[in-house]
This record gives sequence, C-alpha cells and structure tokens, in this order.
Amino acid sequence: MSGEAVRLTIDGREVSVPPGTTILGACRTAGIDTPTLCYLETLTPVNVCRVCVVEVEGSRVLVPACSRRVEEGMRVLTDSPRVRTSRKMVLEFLASSVDVSLSREFADYARRYGADPARYGPPAPPAGTGEREHSAAGHHHPPHADRAQTVAQPPTIDNELYVRDYSKCILCYKCVEACGVDAQNTFAIAVAGRGFEAHIATEYAVPLPDSACVYCGNCIGVCPTGALMFKTEFDRRRAGTWDESRQVSAQTICPYCGVGCALEVRAQDGEIVKVTSPLESSVTHGHLCIKGRFGWQFVNRRNREGS
Ligand code: SF4
Ligand code: SF4
Ligand code: FES
Repeated sequence: MSGEAVRLTIDGREVSVPPGTTILGACRTAGIDTPTLCYLETLTPVNVCRVCVVEVEGSRVLVPACSRRVEEGMRVLTDSPRVRTSRKMVLEFLASSVDVSLSREFADYARRYGADPARYGPPAPPAGTGEREHSAAGHHHPPHADRAQTVAQPPTIDNELYVRDYSKCILCYKCVEACGVDAQNTFAIAVAGRGFEAHIATEYAVPLPDSACVYCGNCIGVCPTGALMFKTEFDRRRAGTWDESRQVSAQTICPYCGVGCALEVRAQDGEIVKVTSPLESSVTHGHLCIKGRFGWQFVNRRNREGS
C-alpha cells in the first residue's frame, strides 16, 4: 500500500500506519490486543461477530475494528466502558446460545470482559450426547431448521475424516470463506437460511460425501470453536482420552508433492491425531489439501499392525 502514513490516536496514543490499514491493524501496530472471532488475517473480513468493536470519536455507533479503515486524525477508544459493555454482551449472547467450551480464545475474552452468559438463561449444553450419522442416502439436515434446532442438534458424523458439530457453531463464516474464494474455491458449504434460521450447510443440506467437499480440511483449520473437528480428535474426546498434555508436535514438510507445504503434525500415545499448517507459512497460509491434512492414516494403521 503506497501513500503517506495515516496518523490517528488510539486510547490517547499516537499511531502512524500505512493508508488502507484497518483499525485492528493499527491497534496491533500499537500493541493493543483487540478481540476477534470472525476475523483471520488470511480471510476476507466478513464483519459479523462484532466482538472487535471500538469507539470512534464522532461516530454514533461502535465500529468494527477488523473492517473499518483508518482515517487521518481518527480518535479511537478500544477500552471505554461502552466498548467493554458491548464486547461483554456479544460474548454473553454467543455463549448463551452455542457451546463455546472448546474455544480458548473465547474463554480468554470472557474472562477479560467479565462475560456471564448465565444472565441469559442456562448456558448452552456442552457437546451433544448423541450423534447424527449419515449414509450416502441417509437423512439430511432439515434445510430450514430454526436456529434453536440447529444449535441443539447432535454432531454430524458422515465421513471418516472430520465431524461437524453445529451446536458449537458461532456462525463466524470462516469455514465458508476458507472453502470459497479465500482458499479452496470449492464452495461446498454456505450459510443457509436467514436471521435465527441461519446455519452452515452443504448445498441442499446433503451429507458431506454427496457434496462438493474435497476434504481439504481448510474449514477445520479456521474454525475457532471446535464445531469442525478431526474425527481422531472427536473420537478421543468422546472416549475421554484426548489429552493435550500428552501430545507432542513436530514441524515438517509435506512429502506428497513438490509444493512443499509446511505441516505441523500432532501426536498422542504414538498416534498422529491432527495435522495443521501454520497460518504464517508463506506457502500455505494455513491451508492444505486432503493429502497433507489427512494422508497420514496409513502411519497409524501401520503402528497398530505393528509392522
Ligand atoms: S473440507 Fe475443504 S472442501 Fe470440504 S467443506 Fe471444508 S473447506 Fe470445503
Ligand atoms: S463451523 Fe466453525 S468456522 Fe464455520 S461458521 Fe461455525 S464456528 Fe465459524
Ligand atoms: S472480528 Fe470484527 S466483526 Fe468479527
């Protein structure tokens, strides 16, 4: 981005950033940690969660820091009582309607803003107890299930690679973005319905194996709440054997082709349980294909067979 630096003040501090920078970017330059849920550096901002809002002098409403660009002379407050109250309420609304128990960032923010979801009734129950299994010809999600049904539904297990548990979905759209133009260009999933009925679904709500999904797992990589989860992790969590304190991880390069994608391989009890790619990798920006993401099943199988 060229042009003269834009000067503004954030919480009384003078900051100078390149034109086109977002308020969030300027906050980061100033070392001010701003909460975000729907924002990710590698995705187009969709501006839906509103947890990043800040006060801008002269603006009647709070503005989303992740998408609003800085302007010369702007005066921004990121920790005013109004901002804190708004962020707290956003967190409380979310946690009172979906299960955010697996989101570390959510827990950090809730602590920081003193969010108490119980003010809006009993918190959303943790992970569903039952499960929804699809066969290729199996039952579909009701395409227009209302939000309450969407939230209350059990996890959908319709393939061997990953599980969708929409009772944990905060509708941040990150998975849709990652499946679309921002990374995968497959468009297997989208937001269906509107308002309270809005939910993430495959086209015609078909099971994943019948959808356009190519199992790159890029949606899992960006999901902030564990709504999308490796089946290996899901199975271990359900069996009570998922234990991050016993896990080790190693960085390596995917051996399958010449692109050279950076992999972070996580293992527990001698078994690979999850593969991700660092967001900051200039090759992958956190995104992989099915081979890098899931092409390690044979290693586990070999371990089990002891060969
Ligand atoms: S695994 Fe890949 S193709 Fe399938 S829904 Fe997720 S991002 Fe889209
Ligand atoms: S499934 Fe995950 S990434 Fe997708 S909208 Fe829900 S919370 Fe966001
Ligand atoms: S992070 Fe800004 S609206 Fe979600």
